[in-house]
Amino acid sequence: MPDGAAPVLDVRGLKTVFRTRGGEIHAVNSVSFHLKRGEVLGVVGESGSGKSVTMMSLIGLLPSPPAEIRGGEVMLGDRDLLKIDAEELRQVRGAKVGFVFQDPMTSLNPVFTVGMQIMEPLREHMGLDKQQAEARAVELLQLVGIPDAAKRLKSYPHQFSGGMRQRVMIAIALACNPDVLIADEPTTALDVTIQAQILELVKELRQKLGMAIIWITHDLGVIATVADRVMVMYGGQVVEHGPVKELFAFPRHPYTRALLKTIPSITGHREARLQVIEGQPPILNATPTACPFRARCPHAMEICSRENPARRAVDAAPLGHGHDVACHWSPPALHEAAHA
Ligand SMILES: Nc1ncnc2c1ncn2[C@@H]1O[C@H](COP(=O)(O)OP(=O)(O)OP(=O)(O)O)[C@@H](O)[C@H]1O
Ligand code: SF4
Ligand SMILES: [Mg+2]
Repeated sequence: MPDGAAPVLDVRGLKTVFRTRGGEIHAVNSVSFHLKRGEVLGVVGESGSGKSVTMMSLIGLLPSPPAEIRGGEVMLGDRDLLKIDAEELRQVRGAKVGFVFQDPMTSLNPVFTVGMQIMEPLREHMGLDKQQAEARAVELLQLVGIPDAAKRLKSYPHQFSGGMRQRVMIAIALACNPDVLIADEPTTALDVTIQAQILELVKELRQKLGMAIIWITHDLGVIATVADRVMVMYGGQVVEHGPVKELFAFPRHPYTRALLKTIPSITGHREARLQVIEGQPPILNATPTACPFRARCPHAMEICSRENPARRAVDAAPLGHGHDVACHWSPPALHEAAHA
């Protein structure tokens, strides 16, 4: 894909707040990222860092109240998803953006057959009649590697194994050939062999269908396997972002460095889950005016309490362009290497 190709999804300055009885929770603070056709963006960050809320904000899946989107733009092609009405957004969700949740049992309806659930978006958004929708549903189940697809259409979700249900969810998300597939920890509940099969499947689909994929995970091994770029979130912000090889080899943010330091080798690891880093996550009760990582950061300086660092491009990124970091500090060895 040419570097200059227009992004399919371009998110700028997204801000999401929850209004609760105990006060406001600033869950997403000026998050920006983009995605090009055929790209996989991996998203990592500890629990509560705002990964799911960011993605759900994009496509209007958060209940309001308590959620309130306070700012930003979510451009899908030339449409700002934050400006369209609820009905148009529902159409986008069914047809342009596919979403796979962590637990397929909560998103598959137990009282309808799997076939009915795959056919519904096909009939609604693609205007297919019953016969056409059925044929396409069989095709989709085959595509996600479910054997005996025509027969399995008549099964109910509980008659499938966890891995198979996850494949069904992917089939539903893919039904209308979306431009963007958002997968929020879709393999966490699955055993490693099934995880590996799903990852292979996603890589194949991205090649076959050219869709852009956002993959949220706690597993850095998964990121290394599927992602082109990585976005690291902390305290509702993007603290580092860049091409996967570059970021894993030359992490700049103290949080990313702490995550990666705990893992001896990323590639080849079947499972390299995020390690718990000492200290408490930040309290998100206001727009941060200081670096949210400062209480846990070994490199915190005076400026870190006064100024929340903006994202800045990393100069001379050794392995690729497009690496940026939100931090006042630069790792000395890397800084010298980059300027040698
Ligand atoms: N309905 C809600 N009401 C109030 N606060 C919420 C609500 N949903 C999420 N939050 C808060 O928003 C913040 C971000 O949550 P989010 O679910 O995006 O985290 P996450 O990065 O996806 O974590 P995990 O890895 O555990 O899935 C958290 O502080 C969470 O407590
Ligand atoms: S801005 Fe300061 S406190 Fe925050 S991560 Fe960088 S060095 Fe640490
Ligand atoms: Mg989440």
